[in-house]
Amino acid sequence: MLILGIETSCDETAAAVVEDGSKVLSNVVVSQIDIFAEYGGVIPEVAARNHLEVMMPVVRKALEDAGKTWDDIDAIAVTHTPGLLGSLLVGTLTARTLAIIHNKPLYAVHHLKSHIYANWINADSLPEFPLLALVVSGGHTQILRMNAHNHFEIIGTTRDDAVGECFDKVAKILGLPYPGGPAITKAGLSGDKNKFKLPKPNVDGLDFSFSGLKTAVLRAVQSELGLPISHPSYDLKNHLSEQQISDFAASFEKTAVDYLLEKLEKAYEMYPETKSFVVAGGVSANQALREESVKRLPNVFFPEPKFSGDNGAMVAAAAYFEIKSGVAPTDPYKLNIMPRSAIN
Ligand SMILES: Nc1ncnc2c1ncn2[C@@H]1O[C@H](COP(=O)(O)OP(=O)(O)OP(=O)(O)O)[C@@H](O)[C@H]1O
Ligand SMILES: [Mg+2]
Repeated sequence: MLILGIETSCDETAAAVVEDGSKVLSNVVVSQIDIFAEYGGVIPEVAARNHLEVMMPVVRKALEDAGKTWDDIDAIAVTHTPGLLGSLLVGTLTARTLAIIHNKPLYAVHHLKSHIYANWINADSLPEFPLLALVVSGGHTQILRMNAHNHFEIIGTTRDDAVGECFDKVAKILGLPYPGGPAITKAGLSGDKNKFKLPKPNVDGLDFSFSGLKTAVLRAVQSELGLPISHPSYDLKNHLSEQQISDFAASFEKTAVDYLLEKLEKAYEMYPETKSFVVAGGVSANQALREESVKRLPNVFFPEPKFSGDNGAMVAAAAYFEIKSGVAPTDPYKLNIMPRSAIN
């Protein structure tokens, strides 16, 4: 079964053609990172306008790279939530229009489901159920249980910021570019990860909190520089040495990774029948998280790094497993394909 997956939930315009939920025939991603690097974050209105400009060329290239025509495509899948409303509208309306013109079934896919199913793409071995999924992205931090395909139970979630957002905000404090994740890893390579002891937010159960960790970095930087807590965060980078930036980056990354894994280990204690772990979302590209988790937990799966961030292949994969497990509606046109919400 050939599915064309379309993804526009944030600042990547993406389309891919995937066979049977795992074999990627094409994967086209146009990122707006260069545009938003200047601002240190995404501006929703600008993101939506840029999606509009490249959406159709991206779809055409996905078909061309796959060597397929519309006749070959069995279904179209599109991210319909969660994400930025204007961005989601471009993807969903494009997908719906194409589905009507080319007479294809259309499937609306939840973005976090797609991140999880990135672990089934091009995989040599597959995760086994029951599994625990750690979703770590720009907008979410969650632990979910999956007893079978398409059975999701959220057992832990952040009470405030997401871990990816925390990477981005800490990078901003340190004067590092957007997106913060890769920049923090790079700066931290020459740093001492034990130099600054940062507190791990004390939240009950399997929930997370990341706003406290971000503030802890801010206070530690102010204190290290001998500046008052009223000193504006945007100015701190002008006082930090290269070595201090590296030490803060390494110490923060170590604390964030350790905190994520402590919670995942706790989840394993609560659900010892777990057979495998999957890590998903943009932060799953993090090398320290990859290395530490395989040391601390058995049978850990990660997407190929190019499928960690937003892409169309994971949307097609998630739709395929929805269809296979009978979760997808038999008459997809009855579905309310419009974006459900900008935030949820
Ligand atoms: N190597 C890395 N280490 C840590 N974080 C990273 C790395 N690469 C990317 N990230 C982070 O991943 C986030 C982007 O991930 P993703 O694209 O999945 O998020 P999103 O789609 O914006 O949010 P969501 O998926 O929750 O809707 C950014 O916050 C970025 O800093
Ligand atoms: Mg995402």
